[in-house]
Amino acid sequence: MKHSKFLAAAMGFAIAGTLAVSAQSADMANVTIVNGTIPKSLTGKAGDPAAGKKAAINQKKGNCLACHVMPIPEEQFHGKTGPDLHGIGSRQTEAELRMRLVDPKVISADTMMPSFFKTGQHRVLKDFEGKTILEAQEVENIVAYLLTLK
Ligand code: HEC
Repeated sequence: MKHSKFLAAAMGFAIAGTLAVSAQSADMANVTIVNGTIPKSLTGKAGDPAAGKKAAINQKKGNCLACHVMPIPEEQFHGKTGPDLHGIGSRQTEAELRMRLVDPKVISADTMMPSFFKTGQHRVLKDFEGKTILEAQEVENIVAYLLTLK
């Protein structure tokens, strides 16, 4: 079943997320958190919303649909573990959304949502050792996409 494949993907993420300890990483060291938000672009460049939408759907990148309903009707499966992201761009600021993607555990310590821009997570797939799930510009692209969801 299509569902179980997605569920397995979601579970994998959840496990990687839950076992993460707050290890220092080169990437996070360059990120300035201000009142639980990240006001500045990680790359100094603006994000590309179209590329962000693709990365959000991609199961090897954001895989956001594993856990969230989003306004992407062309994709069949939308998970319900996390909140519906319709209109998220009207409810949250760029700085808040960037924090959520970089490391949602700063916002809620026991969240299932993976930290997309943090290294030092335990028991990740070999491919991810020492790497972040998303590159800095991919985070910016997804933030830019989320901001279009008004
Ligand atoms: C393994 C499941 C999972 C995945 C994958 C996931 N999230 Fe989440 N997300 C959650 C959960 C659960 C919450 C609820 C907040 C909490 O847990 O504290 C959440 C919260 C959020 C919020 C805050 C929503 C609100 O209304 O407050 C945003 C924005 C968000 N996620 C965006 C994303 C994006 C974009 C992606 C893909 C890059 C993603 N999430 C991937 C589980 C997930």
